[in-house]
Amino acid sequence: MSDIMLGKKILLGVSGGIAAYKMPLLVRLFVKAGAEVQVIMTARTKQFVTPDTLAVLSKRPVLTDVFGAFAQPSHWAEHIRLGEWADMFLVAPATANTLAKLAHGFGDDMLSIVYLALRPNKPRLVFPAMDGEMFTAASVQRNIEQLVQDGCTVIPPEHGDLASGLVGVGRLPEPETIFAHAVKALAGSTDALDEDEQKYRGKHIVVTAGATREKIDPVRFISNYSSGKMGFALAEAAAQLGATVTLITGKTPLATPPTVARINIESAEEMLRAAESEFARADMFIAAAAVADYRPVEVQSEKLKKSDSEFSLRLIKNPDILAAFGAQKKPHQVAIGFALETHNGIENAKEKLLKKNLDMIVLNSANEAGAGFDVETNIITIITRDGFAEKFPLMHKRNAAKTILKKAAAFLSAIAS
Ligand code: CTP
Repeated sequence: MSDIMLGKKILLGVSGGIAAYKMPLLVRLFVKAGAEVQVIMTARTKQFVTPDTLAVLSKRPVLTDVFGAFAQPSHWAEHIRLGEWADMFLVAPATANTLAKLAHGFGDDMLSIVYLALRPNKPRLVFPAMDGEMFTAASVQRNIEQLVQDGCTVIPPEHGDLASGLVGVGRLPEPETIFAHAVKALAGSTDALDEDEQKYRGKHIVVTAGATREKIDPVRFISNYSSGKMGFALAEAAAQLGATVTLITGKTPLATPPTVARINIESAEEMLRAAESEFARADMFIAAAAVADYRPVEVQSEKLKKSDSEFSLRLIKNPDILAAFGAQKKPHQVAIGFALETHNGIENAKEKLLKKNLDMIVLNSANEAGAGFDVETNIITIITRDGFAEKFPLMHKRNAAKTILKKAAAFLSAIAS
């Protein structure tokens, strides 16, 4: 599970544009992921979002006024303390006015002086958002260029409906996308999401994870060693790329990744029902669950008592959830499966890919050290319909998830607007 946000100290500078209304949701994402957030507003931001809302969600008073903060002697060096404290400074939305101040070294409000006081090696992420033709104005572009030269990561606004009623470039990305950029910046990468990664923004990704439990009687069940780690890592990675993720999972102690909608199930039949309700809106269905192939024909209502020295249990085949998705999928929908094999891995996996009508299958070799169930790492081979197979070295499941999503992006339709 990614814990990159855990304990991280985020300065969130909110300047006065309409897109500030999205910031309470962003603060919630950070807090849910275990980060501490200090919100700093400009004076005009109050017109768009209330300091109280942001204070309650961030669990800290919102800072606006330099002199308010300096009212007590113990706060005289508040801006310096915050500059030292922060692991990252994120400005969203950054209005044309705030961009100009940051680019030119102004320090006339709390946001701009804390920006100046930030330690030089800390990531600075700036999300400009503005209406009409403002974003393309020569002065705004010049200021952005300056900020980039100063080492800031400036994430350009998106194209779409603007508050004025115009349509154009200027929209602040959704909180999930901003969060994904923040995660990436904290992970040490300062480049923006690449083209493949951007394709996940706004897409609906459904992931199955973990082991199913097939009831024998009130105290016993058939299951397997699957931990759910691979599925949870995929759900988390997709959410970090701005996707809307539904995670359908068997019982596991793993924590739900931020922003992921989790559906807990027990048996294969319950997993199928939950999955079917998501089929129509799924842009991508990733079956990482270890579904029990069979279940007892009858579930005993009372605990089975031992009697004979031998005992046999009649089993019946479970529905194949991934095959059900593959059979009904529309051309724009992507189906990805896993295959855990002990021998003839590539051939068996290719056969499953065709039989279940998949776009891609991820082969795990059950015989290799560090791969398979209940470990943090995995060795994966990605196989596509054209028969191409690419084997990757041993890696953490979190990185395996990113690798899988990067490859799978090829099957997703173009970037959502
Ligand atoms: N799968 C599924 N529902 C099932 C069985 C499997 O959704 N009832 C999915 C798994 O999540 C995995 C893929 O299908 O993505 C392959 O599962 P696997 O158990 O390896 O293959 P099977 O098709 O069940 O074949 P076998 O057990 O014979 O290897």
